[in-house]
Amino acid sequence: MNSTVSNDNNPSATLSFSDGSPSVTMPIYKGTIGPDVIDIRKLYGQSGKFTYDPGFLSTAACNSSITYIDGDIGKLLYRGYPIEQIAVNCDFLETCYLILHGELPNKSQRDDFVHRVTSHTMVHEQMSTFFRGFRRDSHPMAVLVAVVGAMSAFYADSSDVNDPQQRAISAIRLIAKLPTLVAMTYKYSIGQPFVYPSNDLSYSANFMRMMFSNPCEEYKSNDVLVRALDRILILHADHEQNASTSTVRLAGSSGANPFACIAAGVACLWGPAHGGANEAALNMLIDIQNNGGVEKIGEFIADVKNKNSGTKLMGFGHRVYKNYDPRAKLMRETCHEVLNELGLHDSPLFKLAMALEKIALEDEYFVKRQLYPNVDFYSGIVQSALGIPVPLFTAIFAMARTVGWIAQWNEMISDPEQKIGRPRQLFVGATERDVKPIAQR
Ligand code: CMC
Repeated sequence: MNSTVSNDNNPSATLSFSDGSPSVTMPIYKGTIGPDVIDIRKLYGQSGKFTYDPGFLSTAACNSSITYIDGDIGKLLYRGYPIEQIAVNCDFLETCYLILHGELPNKSQRDDFVHRVTSHTMVHEQMSTFFRGFRRDSHPMAVLVAVVGAMSAFYADSSDVNDPQQRAISAIRLIAKLPTLVAMTYKYSIGQPFVYPSNDLSYSANFMRMMFSNPCEEYKSNDVLVRALDRILILHADHEQNASTSTVRLAGSSGANPFACIAAGVACLWGPAHGGANEAALNMLIDIQNNGGVEKIGEFIADVKNKNSGTKLMGFGHRVYKNYDPRAKLMRETCHEVLNELGLHDSPLFKLAMALEKIALEDEYFVKRQLYPNVDFYSGIVQSALGIPVPLFTAIFAMARTVGWIAQWNEMISDPEQKIGRPRQLFVGATERDVKPIAQR
């Protein structure tokens, strides 16, 4: 394919075919930053050929103005603002406002938004009955997929995707109720009563209280720990067209209601290659610790490098970041703060993580493949120090990512170019054949 600039200064690309078919010229579009895209929408009509890109390695599936990542230099921007500045200057709800509305809120916009979110934190009382149908040992993500999907049954009055007002209410409901649902999932699993939200607390402090208080004992909030949770939420709030966000967009492209779409995102996030990595990373550390600790790192790394072992260094590598994940740097900093605050800096698990990180950053296998620690390498250690049980880690990620999912969903619905998502395929199965009667098969 030759990329050319045509006379009228509209860049285009021409695709020529070795089989003599006529070549096809396609426009190239520029974003505000980042790689240009070739508009292939008319390619099939003009050439009868599809493009082939499993895993979307070279395909932009939409245009978006929410989040920008430059994976080569490790840059992450929410609405143009570097994540490093947001993490130190904003709290999670300000970040939500920014992601949803495109601008940082001023004081009165912030107060109004906080009020709108906090006045939606309770869930319908009937939902507690719904919880009781689950086994107590269910994985939290299994419960979360179901209860988020079930929100469509409870909040049908904000399910009309064509009504911008209802879309705005569903966004607030989802952001406000996810912490309540995640905390209920945890309480149910340990057999404790659900704790109602407390609207005089911040988003993160309220979540920690719903998690850790009980009718006999109030939770004593610690600013360092609340700030750490808030930072986890900020760092996970959006990440452009990742697997779960693309799932939400694809589900939403059919006109499905927002709660069903976000439930689809939760399901996709569950996988260990995506949101499940924080759980898998901590389990990996615990496993190494239980099998010899720091002494065994060499053996473990050798196992990771052996392609037949199927072992991965969880919390390392990223499809887009081929440099240090900027979220990992911030999470590493938070990790130190939390462990210092709790006097856990000498914990064997943390020492193990630091030793593993050092070796992996110097090892030729990882250096050559540009595998750096991602946010999940540290977020598991922080969450564990906060007292969050390992199986709940991905649910915390879902709570944070809800704002990104709903903002991306809303952006898609508002886009006049939006169409139902319908990928095509390279068919490699049987060609047409006749069904034989059963006696002849
Ligand atoms: N440990 C060992 N080798 C790895 C790892 C790893 N964690 N990640 C990638 N590789 C190797 C891979 O085997 C391949 O080697 P080769 O070229 O010899 O075949 C090479 O690096 C390129 O990897 P890839 O699988 O083609 O990369 P990808 O973009 O398809 O996968 C990934 C990205 C995140 C799925 C992968 O790096 C991974 O599985 N990492 C561990 C899971 C993890 O931490 N995921 C969290 C991602 S951050 C949170 C989020 O945004 O969801």
